[in-house]
Amino acid sequence: MTGLVGVFDSGIGGLSILQALRAELPQSRFIYIADSGHAPYGERTDAYVMARSRAIMAELLKRQVQALVIACNTATAVAIEQLRADCPELPIIGVEPALKPALALSQTRRIGVMATRSTLASAKFKALLTALASQAEFVVQACDGLAERIERSVGSNDTADIKALCAQYTQEMGSFGIKSGQIDTLVLGCTHYPFATAPLRELLGPQVQLVSNGPAVARQTRLKLAQNTSLAASHALDDLAAEAATPLTLLSTGEPQLLQAAAQRWLPRLPTETVYRATRLATST
Ligand code: DGL
Repeated sequence: MTGLVGVFDSGIGGLSILQALRAELPQSRFIYIADSGHAPYGERTDAYVMARSRAIMAELLKRQVQALVIACNTATAVAIEQLRADCPELPIIGVEPALKPALALSQTRRIGVMATRSTLASAKFKALLTALASQAEFVVQACDGLAERIERSVGSNDTADIKALCAQYTQEMGSFGIKSGQIDTLVLGCTHYPFATAPLRELLGPQVQLVSNGPAVARQTRLKLAQNTSLAASHALDDLAAEAATPLTLLSTGEPQLLQAAAQRWLPRLPTETVYRATRLATST
């Protein structure tokens, strides 16, 4: 499946989704926008996240993307319905905490969910939780500051803060393990958190399952792209055409060098033609 897919997150977290997208759609081209100049989203107002999401979608539409992946649980929870209403002809795929896959895995029926405060407070997440609440006990934990620390760690390589926050939040959730009454499955409900897998593994041991939604989002994107052959990416504006023709373009509203460092660390088999660029996106309100 070929095609041009726009992907965005508040920062580098969405690279965990981009990883899965590139594996599922090796022939497609991707433009990724990290809104690092405005991260984190998870502790901001809904109005702010909505305005940022709209500004980024407008930028990706200029490049004639054929599908848009909101690689951010927070922006999905707050903005996906409005973005779909703004642009009904564009397939828009979001990411939500992987509660359903966790249900399929958990034996103890006690499932932990780590996410941003804003995701957990959203009507969308509450509806998901209510729909599944009879099937297991979900222990939810707002992880203030964790996405921000992960974002910052790329520049500093200092992971002590990340370890400390992971320890604090997992302790607050209770006992982890595979015995009855313990949490045996942990949902990483923010796309930044897979980049804290190592400290989480160290804290929780090898038996607790860590679950995120990247592969499911990637499969969904392939299906939507296949249905959207009518939107050929042939009309990209001249000055953006080169970007649209590149296998992978990584744009950041913050420091493009940090996005580059994160991509080099976390994206396997980066194409040599990858373009890294700073982009200034004014919030359109
Ligand atoms: N990575 C994002 C998410 O999945 C947002 C993290 C943040 O900016 O707070 O929720």
